[in-house]
Amino acid sequence: MKEIVNVSKQWGIGKNGDLLINIPGDMKFFRETTKDAVVIMGSTTLESFPGMAPLKNRINIVLIDDPAKIKKESVEAAEADKKAGKKTELIFVRSIEEALKAAEPYPDENVFVIGGATIYRIMLPYCDTCLVTINDCKDKPDVYYPNLEESGEWEMTEEGPENEWEGIHYRFTTWKRK
Ligand SMILES: NC(=O)c1ccc[n+]([C@@H]2O[C@H](COP(=O)([O-])OP(=O)(O)OC[C@H]3O[C@@H](n4cnc5c(N)ncnc54)[C@H](OP(=O)(O)O)[C@@H]3O)[C@@H](O)[C@H]2O)c1
Repeated sequence: MKEIVNVSKQWGIGKNGDLLINIPGDMKFFRETTKDAVVIMGSTTLESFPGMAPLKNRINIVLIDDPAKIKKESVEAAEADKKAGKKTELIFVRSIEEALKAAEPYPDENVFVIGGATIYRIMLPYCDTCLVTINDCKDKPDVYYPNLEESGEWEMTEEGPENEWEGIHYRFTTWKRK
């Protein structure tokens, strides 16, 4: 299982409940990488999507403590997708164990943890690969991704060339558990 995340050089990933920075080239990479895949996320991340709709043509596994908090909009959006012939699934789970069980039928290389801060942290021990886009955005984050460099458990195995968008520089990197 992999995590896919966009971090600043200080491993910041968000502020005020939003992404720290929204880079179109990185969004494209995210869409292409997770196409037709299984994505695992927290309820806050699902709520942050436009219309609280799950990601289209993906199996969306959402961790939520309290089922009473499930949003009608999300369920309706998933049903509308299915009616339109899309392969969107929305599965709510209440624990890490249930999330792993829901993902079990699918090939491991097709399962991605997509955030947010809480879910990245609790699911990281179950992952062997992290796809990390590293940007040089200077905004101050209020939520962080675990610092893989300092953890001693991870090593960067691939580092792509530098890209630039509106003065922000970013690279696609791959990290593997040692
Ligand atoms: N840079 C990136 O790549 C990236 C990607 C995604 C998100 N983000 C950022 O991350 C931030 C959001 O992170 P977050 O930590 O607030 O939200 P989150 O990880 O998306 O969701 C947290 C929620 O998940 C539920 N949950 C947590 N642990 C659980 C467990 N063990 N079992 C069942 N449910 C559990 C709880 O929801 P309930 O209490 O509702 O049940 C909890 O409030 C935002 O700033 C967002 O922009 C960044």
